[in-house]
Amino acid sequence: MVECINVHKSYKMGKVIIPALRGLNLKVKRTEVVAIVGPSGSGKTTLLNCIGTIDRPDEGQIIIDGIDVTRLSERKLIEIRRKKIGFIFQTFNLIPVLTAFENVEIPMIITGIPREQRRKRVMELLRLVRLEHRANHRPSELSGGE
Ligand SMILES: Nc1ncnc2c1ncn2[C@@H]1O[C@H](COP(=O)(O)OP(=O)(O)OP(=O)(O)O)[C@@H](O)[C@H]1O
Ligand SMILES: [Mg+2]
Repeated sequence: MVECINVHKSYKMGKVIIPALRGLNLKVKRTEVVAIVGPSGSGKTTLLNCIGTIDRPDEGQIIIDGIDVTRLSERKLIEIRRKKIGFIFQTFNLIPVLTAFENVEIPMIITGIPREQRRKRVMELLRLVRLEHRANHRPSELSGGE
């Protein structure tokens, strides 16, 4: 489902180059649940940003469901992000004026899923993470874990 092949990524700060990923290889199969652990600054967010197509590696390939996303145009990436990727940011990035329900619903509106079908699916997803009783709460009215 996800394959990283020899992924390199560094950050340039003026003349200083900070290597974050140096030849990373990873394979995740469908239904597999993987946790990436490591000390602060070891490159976990950098890796997830690359897999999530928010950032691109400098070198190497990332294959998602057979598609090499390191070579795709921004237009194609938008589609992949919408259909294949769910991403919880380290800083959440929830939309503050929308409720938990509406935050979950947004991509379904963009995809054109009818209202009733959306409502069912949103509640199903909230139930899955035991947040159905927080559906009408805004992000500022949720705990960090919630
Ligand atoms: N935008 C940036 N510009 C310059 N250096 C960066 C940038 N983002 C990350 N780094 C550096 O890249 C390295 C990897 O950072 P990254 O955020 O991927 O670590 P992390 O494993 O997610 O850490 P944490 O557990 O603290 O979230 C670190 O040395 C960090 O200082
Ligand atoms: Mg991080």
